[in-house]
This record gives sequence, C-alpha cells and structure tokens, in this order.
Amino acid sequence: MTTHNDDVDWDRWPVVDYLAENYREVHPCDAAVIAHHSAFYRRLPPGSLGRSVEFGAGPNVYPLILAAAASRRVEAVEAGAGNVAYLEQQILDGPDASWLPFHELCRRLNPALPATLAGSLAPVHVVHADVRELPPGRYDLASMHFVAEGATEDRAEFAAFCRTFVGCVAPGGYLVAAFMENMPTYRIGPASRWPGCPVDPDIVTSVFAPLTRELAVTRIDADPTLPDYGDSGMVLLAGRAR
Ligand SMILES: C[S@@+](CC[C@H](N)C(=O)[O-])C[C@H]1O[C@@H](n2cnc3c(N)ncnc32)[C@H](O)[C@@H]1O
Repeated sequence: MTTHNDDVDWDRWPVVDYLAENYREVHPCDAAVIAHHSAFYRRLPPGSLGRSVEFGAGPNVYPLILAAAASRRVEAVEAGAGNVAYLEQQILDGPDASWLPFHELCRRLNPALPATLAGSLAPVHVVHADVRELPPGRYDLASMHFVAEGATEDRAEFAAFCRTFVGCVAPGGYLVAAFMENMPTYRIGPASRWPGCPVDPDIVTSVFAPLTRELAVTRIDADPTLPDYGDSGMVLLAGRAR
C-alpha cells in the first residue's frame, strides 16, 4: 500500500527524536545546505522581500534564520501540532542554545543577517496549516526542506507538492529547497515510520524545469554523521517561478 499525505497523522511527528537525530549540532550536510542557500540569499538586497514562506517548516530553525536578511516577514507553515508548538516556543520563550552555531554560520556567510539568533527569528510567524491550502502567488520567496519527498510515498503526489510550492510565490518569485536524495520510507527514533519518495537530481529537474527559470539543481553526498535513513545524499535547488 502506498502511503499518501492524508494517511499520516502529522501531529504525531516525533519532535524530540527528530531534533536529537538531526539538528542538535551543525552536521556537515547542514553546513553544505547553509553554504548553498547563503550564496542564493546574498544576491537578495536586505529587507527587499515583503513575505517569505517556509513550506512544511517542521521544527527546523535554520531555514528561518537564513530567510531573515532578505525578508521582512517569514511565515513558517506547518501541519503538525507538535512542530508548531516547538517553533512557537522558540520564538516566544527564546531559541534553544543548540541553534546558536547555526545562526553563527548563517551570519558568517551572510553578514546582512541580524546579529542575534532571537533577532533573526523576529520576522517569523508560525502558521498551523496545510501547505496544500496556501493561496497561489501569496509570497515573494518560498523555501522548502525535506517536505515534498518526505510527505508521501507517491511520485505523483511529490510532484503535486512541488507544483504547490512553486505556485505559492508570485511569478518571478524566488525558490530555494533541499530534498533527501533517494530516501525511501524511513524511521525516526526507536519505532516511528515516515513516508519517503525516492527522488534524484533528474527527477527534481524534470518536475521544476517547466515551472521555473534560472533553475540550478546540485547535490551533495550522504552525511555519515547522520542516522542512515537509506538516502544517498541531498539535492539542492534554487530558481525563480515562471
Ligand atoms: C521530513 S519533515 C521536514 C521538516 C523540516 N522542514 C526540516 O527541514 O527538518 C516533513 C515535514 O512536512 C510537514 N508536512 C507534511 N505534510 C504537510 C502538509 N500537507 N502541510 C504542511 N506541512 C506538512 C510534516 O509535519 C513535517 O514537519
């Protein structure tokens, strides 16, 4: 049986285990994604974008930091209640110290970022919503990390998520994303099982090329410091919506 997005209870996302496995320190793959994205963000004048979206934000704070120099408002849109609660707590009560090295690296690579981690999160608004219901053309920039290929096992539904991602920015809007490469359905923590749709640079390019211009797709190798999720690395994307 192929698992689709609506088959999954995203409120049960294992926030603590996921953070422990992936984001308590800056792994080499995070540094590579941050370097790729910083080169993209450095081309955008500080404060030049009215509204950005983090599409399926999860509990990951570094994409929100990255968007802060260019964007006057960043909407972190997420379906899972536990992830929403975590992000709201990071913004209202102050971020976990484990995000400090992420902020330091992001700011080193883009000095236009606010000097403090809390300052970088000041433009962030957490939105508890289904990304499939975002109105088209609402944003100036959309950013997505490990969502379209981690939200379903179905290739057609992966492509539909990507189309919604591109469609939520206005024509000419900026796009930046990272995908797990060739990741099958996988486990987080001792027991929980989550859908994966294996994709690679060719598949990502074939989905995005008709929808974008200035498309650049690259990849990085698997990170041996992360748990083995069965992936072969990450696919990185930058471009603009047609
Ligand atoms: C693999 S996690 C990635 C989380 C985060 N973006 C990151 O970089 O670690 C996939 C995320 O997509 C969210 N998600 C799945 N389907 C969604 C939907 N229809 N609308 C909004 N969020 C969704 C999940 O709740 C989960 O947080």
